[in-house]
Amino acid sequence: MNILLNGANGRMGKEVITAVNNQENNFKIVCGYDKDEANLGFPVYNNIEKIHENLDVIIDFSVPAATFEILKYAKKNGIPIVIATTGFSKEELEKIEEYSKEIPIFRSSNMSLDINLMANIIQKVAQVLTDSDIEIIETHHNRKVDSPSGTAILLADAINEVLNEKKKYTFDRMQKREKRNKNEIGFSSIRGGNIVGEHTVAFFGESETLEITHKAYSRQVFAEGALKAAEYIVNKKSGLYNMKDIV
Ligand SMILES: NC(=O)c1ccc[n+]([C@@H]2O[C@H](COP(=O)([O-])OP(=O)(O)OC[C@H]3O[C@@H](n4cnc5c(N)ncnc54)[C@H](O)[C@@H]3O)[C@@H](O)[C@H]2O)c1
Repeated sequence: MNILLNGANGRMGKEVITAVNNQENNFKIVCGYDKDEANLGFPVYNNIEKIHENLDVIIDFSVPAATFEILKYAKKNGIPIVIATTGFSKEELEKIEEYSKEIPIFRSSNMSLDINLMANIIQKVAQVLTDSDIEIIETHHNRKVDSPSGTAILLADAINEVLNEKKKYTFDRMQKREKRNKNEIGFSSIRGGNIVGEHTVAFFGESETLEITHKAYSRQVFAEGALKAAEYIVNKKSGLYNMKDIV
């Protein structure tokens, strides 16, 4: 299976290369795309026009602008794409949905199976602890640019999916200067050091608190998840797929 790796020069790009080299699999990274040209054992282009390899699937760990550059290419050439990049605006997410009418797209803000299992668990808890105050606390390394993390939003969206009365998202209490109300999910982001990714969903009651936490120790888990997603999507029809389809 021939892969184009978008964001090949980045931290996650390197992890995908390691995952492909470490596992017994049918994957081959035949080229990459990034801001800067490079040779990583395969050519990394900084110009879409230079891509000439036969491709089966694209894996994207980059930035939203680069995702859209490669999406245009994927649509034009009918290539399935796994989008792991985070930080898209609502409008950009709608655009991705439009693209998925033309090509198969697998998008998840978190490629770890455990996080997606956690999403299932918190859906059940939210349906039982209907009176609790829900807060999501996430911690990441000091180089992360988007906040809150795509995973924090994924977890909040999972809760809202199963509630009749949808919760509003509160990202910044400083500007509001109001009491918290029940109809919200609050987000807190901590940035420092080299933390790969930690997410806690806390259900605060009057006399007790239930917290569910996931900690990723290595970025390999996301790279391996992206390869599973690539395998899953490669022969699918056009449409938008996510980790739920695998879990
Ligand atoms: N879904 C998941 O499970 C998961 C896990 C980890 C990281 N991520 C996300 O993946 C993305 C990449 O993470 P990272 O840690 O590798 O970041 P990084 O900054 O190390 O890598 C991003 C790469 O994109 C390249 N890039 C930037 N602008 C570009 C442009 N205009 N055109 C082409 N390439 C461009 C950079 O040069 C860099 O090599 C982030 O959005 C991050 O949140 C997702």
